[in-house]
Amino acid sequence: MKFFIDTADVQEIREAHTLGLVDGVTTNPSLIAKSGRKFKDVIKEITAIVDGPISAEVISLEADGMVKEAKELVKIHKNIVIKLPMTPEGLKACKALTAKGIKTNVTLIFTPMQALLAAKAGATYVSPFVGRLDDISQDGMGIIEEIRTIFDNYGYTSEIIVASIRNPIHVLNSALIGADICTIPYSVMLQLSKHPLTDAGIKKFLEDWEKVPK
Ligand code: E4P
Repeated sequence: MKFFIDTADVQEIREAHTLGLVDGVTTNPSLIAKSGRKFKDVIKEITAIVDGPISAEVISLEADGMVKEAKELVKIHKNIVIKLPMTPEGLKACKALTAKGIKTNVTLIFTPMQALLAAKAGATYVSPFVGRLDDISQDGMGIIEEIRTIFDNYGYTSEIIVASIRNPIHVLNSALIGADICTIPYSVMLQLSKHPLTDAGIKKFLEDWEKVPK
């Protein structure tokens, strides 16, 4: 399973990259705003750190505007993936960009049918948001299972990026279901590495090491 990091904080990306955990990066307008930096500057810096798909999101609501933004963004680096909203206009842009050989990530997906439409429009990636569904008492992971089944039933090759991940259980269930990718906040990546018995084991080994004749 591939891990993308879900952040626009280049320091976090550098740290996760040194752990060997980053196959790609996803950003969105909220994450860019949080970085406090200019959009293209951040994206360019990320492309210098990670050699993998880097999602950069358009803000236009009409397909023509999305395609225009996409054409500028892909000039930054060959690894740029254009993140498009799951709307009829986003689908239109997805189809047009796919025809030009530009990679796309259709985002803000909350139902299996939205994922199916994005796949039919040729999306390279689809991003269902599990955490935001859980937040409103709907079953986030349930839609991942359904999307996996639908894509497998018909041989769609769009890759499923499980997004809006809040905890290690989301990552575990994504892996069990067979999602292609999880895009994970850095804090959750670190949580994945932790277990109290690992910490206790290290402590005990170090204590016992003190008893070894020097
Ligand atoms: C993914 O592409 C999105 O940027 C992200 O996962 C959204 O997560 P949130 O619901 O925690 O904002």
